Amino acid sequence: MNKITAAITAVNGYVPPGILTNKDLEKLVDTTDEWIVSRTGIKQRHILRDPALATSDMAVEAVNGLLKKRGIEANDLDLIIFGTVTGDLVFPSTACILADKIGAKNAFAYDLSAACSGFLFSLETGARFIECGKYKKVLVVGGDKMSAIIDYTDRNTCIIFGDGCGCVLLEPNTEGYGVIDSILKVDGSGRHFLHQKAGGSLRPPSHETINAKEHAVYQDGKTVFKFAVKGMADVSAKIMERNHLLPADVAWLVPHQANLRIIDATAERMGIPKEKVMINIDHFGNTTNGTLPLCLWEWENKLKKGDNLVLAAFGGGFTWGAIYLKWAYDSPSAV
Ligand code: UT7
Repeated sequence: MNKITAAITAVNGYVPPGILTNKDLEKLVDTTDEWIVSRTGIKQRHILRDPALATSDMAVEAVNGLLKKRGIEANDLDLIIFGTVTGDLVFPSTACILADKIGAKNAFAYDLSAACSGFLFSLETGARFIECGKYKKVLVVGGDKMSAIIDYTDRNTCIIFGDGCGCVLLEPNTEGYGVIDSILKVDGSGRHFLHQKAGGSLRPPSHETINAKEHAVYQDGKTVFKFAVKGMADVSAKIMERNHLLPADVAWLVPHQANLRIIDATAERMGIPKEKVMINIDHFGNTTNGTLPLCLWEWENKLKKGDNLVLAAFGGGFTWGAIYLKWAYDSPSAV
C-alpha cells in the first residue's frame, strides 16, 4: 500500500464583523495611518467586540462552516488540535470547549501553544496522527482574540493585532497529496522580546500586575523583526532546497502575517514573485494563530489540486518554521 499522507480536504475561516481602522487608532494613540501602512502594511483589523464572546466562539463559526462544506458531522471528528494563545480560560483547553459547543462527542482535543507559529506546529502534529493510520479526521484550528490581551494605549502593539480564526480538516491520502515536509524550530531565549508577562505561574494576577498592564502583549518590535526576517526566510529557502523546488515549482507562499516587510523579505529570499504570495495583513492585521488558515480560506478558490504550497511562520518563543504541502483538491468554484 502507498504511504499515507495527511491532506487538507477542507478549509474555512471566520472574522468578527467589528472593524478597527487606522483612523480609529489615530484617536487612541499617537500614530498615523501613513506610519502604520508604510511600516506594517496594515489598514484595518477585525475585532470581536461582544464581551460575552471568546476565541472558541469564533472557532465555532469557522468549524461549523467547514463541517458543512465537507458534508460531515462533528461526531465524525477523531481529534481537534487548537493553536491559540488567547484561550477562553487558563484551563480547560479551548479545544475541549469547542468540542462541546460543536457537539464533537468522539474526538479527543487539546490546545497547542506556539504563539504565531501555533497553527504551523498544530498542522505538523495533526499530520502525524493521520500518517500513523489510526485517525481519519483531524481538525486543526488556529485562532485568537488578540484584542483580549492588547493594551490600546500602547502604540507599539495595538496597531498590529486583530481577531480571527481559521481551520482545516486533515484526512488520509495515498496519492502523495498533503503535508510532504516540515522544518520547525524554537529558541526559548527569545521569550524576553515577545511575551505576556503576567497571568502564568511566574506572575499570577495581582493588583500590581494589573496596574503595570502586565496582562497585555509586550513586544520589542525591532528585535523580533530582525529574528523574524532571518528565521522565516531561512527555513522557507531551506525547505525549497531540500525538496528540489525551484521558484517556478511553488504555486503559493502562505506566510504568517506579522509585517508586510517580513513577508516581502521571505518571498524575495525564495525568489517567489508577489503575485504568488497570499497577503491578507492589509484587512485582517496579525491574527496570530489565525493568519495561515485565514489565508488558505480566502485563497481556496484559486487553489488547484497538485499546487505546491510553502507555509511559513515566526512568532513568540521564539518559534518558527515552514511546511511544504501539496494541495489535494480543486475548489468546487475554482477559477
Ligand atoms: O507575529 C509575531 C511576530 N511579530 C513580528 O514579527 C513583529 C516584528 N516587528 C515589527 O513588525 C516592527 O518592528 C513594528 C511594526 C512593531 C515596528 O516597526 P519598526 O519599523 O521596527 O519601528 P520601530 O519600533 O523601530 O520605531 C520607529 C519609530 C520610533 O520612533 P523614534 O525612536 O525613531 O523617534 C517609534 O517610537 O517609530 C515610532 N513608533 C511609532 N510611530 C507612529 C513606534 N510605533 C509607532 C506607531 N505610530 N504606532
